[in-house]
Amino acid sequence: MALKWKHPQKPGNFMFHHQDTLRHLNENIPLGEKLTSIHYAIKEQFGFIDRIAVAIYDDKTDMLKTYVHSSGGENPLRHYQTPLANASSLQEIVKLRKPRVVNDLNIFADGRQKHSKSINKQGYASSYTLPMFLNNIFFGFVFFNASKKDVFNDGALHYFDIIGHLISLLIINEQSSVRTLLATVKTAHDMTHHRDSETGAHIDRMSRYSRLIAVHIADNHDLDDEYIENVFLFSPLHDIGKIAITDNILQKKGKLTEEETTIMRTHSHKGCEIIDSMLKDHGLDSFENINILRNIAEFHHEAVNGTGYPNGLQGTEIPLEARIVAVADVFDALTSKRPYKEAWSNHNAYAMLQRLAGGQLDKECVNALIANKEQVEKIQRQFVEDQLG
Ligand code: C2E
Ligand code: SIN
Ligand code: SIN
Ligand code: FE
Ligand code: FE
Repeated sequence: MALKWKHPQKPGNFMFHHQDTLRHLNENIPLGEKLTSIHYAIKEQFGFIDRIAVAIYDDKTDMLKTYVHSSGGENPLRHYQTPLANASSLQEIVKLRKPRVVNDLNIFADGRQKHSKSINKQGYASSYTLPMFLNNIFFGFVFFNASKKDVFNDGALHYFDIIGHLISLLIINEQSSVRTLLATVKTAHDMTHHRDSETGAHIDRMSRYSRLIAVHIADNHDLDDEYIENVFLFSPLHDIGKIAITDNILQKKGKLTEEETTIMRTHSHKGCEIIDSMLKDHGLDSFENINILRNIAEFHHEAVNGTGYPNGLQGTEIPLEARIVAVADVFDALTSKRPYKEAWSNHNAYAMLQRLAGGQLDKECVNALIANKEQVEKIQRQFVEDQLG
C-alpha cells in the first residue's frame, strides 16, 4: 500500500533550526577537510581533542604512512613512514585488535622512535588509538590526541569508538574507490595485452619512485600526505592509454616508424579519455582527487622545455604530479627491459636523467630521485621483474 503524505497538524511539528554539524561530509572535498570537519564537530562535545590523525598501512612493505590529519597547532608528523616492525607499541595494538588508551603519554617520553618523540614534543598528554580493519585485514590507525591527561574516561570512549569507526569508513570509501579503479584498469590491461613487458613489478616500482620524489620535494611545494598518497596510488596508471594501442606497435621489437610514433603518442590523451569513461561507469566522476590521476595520464610526456606531447606545455604549466611521474617513468623505462631495448644500469640511467634535467624532465624531480639512490635500490630489490608478468 502506498504511503499517504499526512499534512502535519501544526507547522511547528517540523523543525529545521538544527544545522547538521557534519554537513561538510556531504561535499566533494579532500579527505583531510572532511577530517577537519569531524574534528570541529567533536570539539563541541569534547573540547580536549587537539589532534586527529590517520596513518595507513602498506602490507607489501610493512610501512605505516601518515595520511591525513587535523591538528590544532603544527602537524608534528609530516610525510613520515616507518616499518610497523619498528613501532612495537603500535604493533601490539594490531596484535590485540583493540583500541589503546594512554592517559599519560609521558610513558613514551623516552621512546626512541621519531614518531614517539614528535608526539611528545608537541605536548600531547593522552591518546586513543583505534586500529582499522576491513574484512579482518589491518589497514591503518586513527589517532586522537589531547594535551590534557586522563581525558579518555569510560563515558567518552564509547563516543570515540563511534567516531573512530566513522573515520575508518571514510578512509575505506576513499581507498576502495581508487582500488576499484586500479583493479578495473589492470583487468582491462591484462585482457588487451596478456603478456606485456609492463608487469606488476613495474607498477609497484612506479608507485614507490613517485612517492620518493614527492616526499623529497614536499616542503618546497607544500604537499600534504594525502596528495603524496594519491600520487603513489595513481602513478602506475600513467600509461593506461596504451590499452588503445595495437600490439604490433606496442610490442614491436625495433624502432617505431614516424607513423607508428604518431599513433603511440596518442596514448596519453587516450588514457585521460579512458579514465573519464571509467569514472563515469563507477560513479566516481566527482571524486575530488581524480584530477591528479587525469593530469598524470594526460601530461606525463610533456617536457619542461615545451618539446613534449600532447600539448607542448612548459615548466610549471605542466602539473607537478605529471612532472614527478615523468621522472619515475623514464627511470623505470630505462632500467627495465622493453621489447625495443635492453635494461640499463642504474649508473647509466642516472646519468641520462641528469642529461634530461631541465629539458625533457623537471630538474628538481630528477635531483629528488637521485638524492634517494639507496631507497631506489631497495625498491628494485623488493620488486624484481616477475617472470609471469
Ligand atoms: P616506455 O617504454 O614506458 O617509455 C617511457 C619513456 O621513457 C619514453 O617516452 C622515453 O621518454 C623514456 N625512454 C624509454 N627508453 C628510452 C631510451 O632508450 N632512451 C631515452 N632517452 N629515453 C627512453 P616516449 O619516448 O614518449 O615513448 C612512449 C612509449 O612509446 C614508450 O613507453 C614505449 O611504449 C613506446 N616506444 C618509444 N620508443 C619506442 C621504440 O623505439 N620501439 C617501440 N617498440 N616502442 C617505443
Ligand atoms: C601518532 O599519534 O601519530 C603516533 C603516536 C603513537 O605511537 O601512539
Ligand atoms: C596496468 O595497470 O597494468 C596498466 C599500467 C601500465 O601499463 O603501466
Ligand atoms: Fe607513457
Ligand atoms: Fe610506463
